[in-house]
Amino acid sequence: MSTPTLHIILFASLASPLVSTGCANQSGKGVALFIFGNSLNDAGTNNYINTTADFRANFPPYGETFFHRPTGRFSDGRLIADFIAEYAKLPLIPPYLQMKDGEEFIGGVNFASGGAGALVDTYKGFVVDFKMQLKQLKQLKKKLRKEEGKEQAKRIIKEGVYLISIGSNDYLMPLVYNPALFRSISMEDYVGMVIGNITTVLKGMYKVGGRKFALIGIGSLGCAPRVRSLTRNGSCSGEANKLAKLHNVALTSVLAKLEKRLQGFEYSFFDFYTSGSKRIQYPSKYGFKEAENACCGSGPYRANTTCGGKRGEKEYSLCRHPEKYVFFDAFHPSDRANLQSAQLMWNGSLSVIRPHNLEALFKYEHI
Ligand SMILES: *[C@@H]1O[C@H](CO)[C@@H](O)[C@H](O)[C@H]1NC(C)=O
Ligand SMILES: *[C@@H]1O[C@H](CO)[C@@H](O)[C@H](O)[C@H]1NC(C)=O
Ligand SMILES: *[C@@H]1O[C@H](CO)[C@@H](O)[C@H](O)[C@H]1NC(C)=O
Ligand SMILES: *[C@@H]1O[C@H](CO)[C@@H](O)[C@H](O)[C@H]1NC(C)=O
Ligand SMILES: *[C@@H]1O[C@H](CO)[C@@H](O)[C@H](O)[C@H]1NC(C)=O
Ligand SMILES: *[C@@H]1O[C@H](CO)[C@@H](O)[C@H](O)[C@H]1NC(C)=O
Repeated sequence: MSTPTLHIILFASLASPLVSTGCANQSGKGVALFIFGNSLNDAGTNNYINTTADFRANFPPYGETFFHRPTGRFSDGRLIADFIAEYAKLPLIPPYLQMKDGEEFIGGVNFASGGAGALVDTYKGFVVDFKMQLKQLKQLKKKLRKEEGKEQAKRIIKEGVYLISIGSNDYLMPLVYNPALFRSISMEDYVGMVIGNITTVLKGMYKVGGRKFALIGIGSLGCAPRVRSLTRNGSCSGEANKLAKLHNVALTSVLAKLEKRLQGFEYSFFDFYTSGSKRIQYPSKYGFKEAENACCGSGPYRANTTCGGKRGEKEYSLCRHPEKYVFFDAFHPSDRANLQSAQLMWNGSLSVIRPHNLEALFKYEHI
């Protein structure tokens, strides 16, 4: 994997909205967005690493709805992070590996990599794992210090929001490819290992200087078309959903502990499991027509991950109206589903995003 050297001119332009007011706490202006995790957050990272089409979405019909071209995003359109950036009055945030020499820092960086897990072994060799993403954050900080000086770099890192989606691949990999794993290790112990590794990285990000963390909980994995297709009667996989729930409970408890123990640590936890389950159970209530079948793919539930025809099989089907689907492909939400998640995260109530929504987290000022 190549890591381009960066030469970042920070806030070089006086026209930059990030510098013009100097108000770190007004409608989120001046607050950077750092994005980490897996395909839910990947805006093109995997286009720049040596991997396979299984871990890429840089071919049509990905991107068709909003960008009208593939970007590497695993959706027909925007990701949750794209909407959050918009609400925070930031531009689209570029992948770290896409940034070129001398490129201006425009208010954030995206480190997320499709297929990445908290465990180093999850799709090892094909993804940028969560620990490596932390290393890249450290590299970014060095560059910021060089270009902007110590104090400015520190401020950007400290005031930034760290949007993280990680863990689902650590469960999906064994569920789909090695279901026997849970005969040799209990679900609880496995979840403990995933959470332990996430905790290590969160502490690492805190040590680098990050203070505001927005965690996207794990969704109802068992109802993703790919996982649904593995059950005998096409119902959601109870096993997968159990792992997701165990994970989310353990993660919220870790976050509360970190808030107590680490001075200035602030977080938001998005209950993606509950909000996603509601949409899957009552699609029409949320403007969807289809929540079981994917829009793009092949076979039952269009659960075969052939969307785009680059992953082994050339033949696949594509729905006409992705906005009517909760899932664009066998694992990933549609632009519209992502929009709804982002709005809930931005200004939703405490029932879905707690203890602060992102609008509040962006505004929050540290003493
Ligand atoms: C934060 O907001 C308050 C109230 O709007 C304002 O008085 C203050 O100047 C702001 N702080 C910064 C650093 O802009
Ligand atoms: C990319 O990975 C493949 C298979 O893992 C390997 O054969 C190839 O040499 C790698 N290419 C580069 C440029 O590292
Ligand atoms: C992280 O995961 C590894 C397995 O990849 C495990 O051996 C280790 O105990 C985990 N670390 C923590 C702190 O849980
Ligand atoms: C599908 O099977 C599961 C048990 O494997 C059962 O709990 C569930 O009720 C069944 N659903 C339908 C729709 O038949
Ligand atoms: C997906 O499609 C390919 C090609 O038709 C087939 O070989 C494979 O078994 C299918 N996989 C699943 C999980 O349906
Ligand atoms: C929540 O934020 C979204 C996106 O900015 C906006 O469209 C919506 O009106 C807001 N809702 C409320 C209740 O403020």
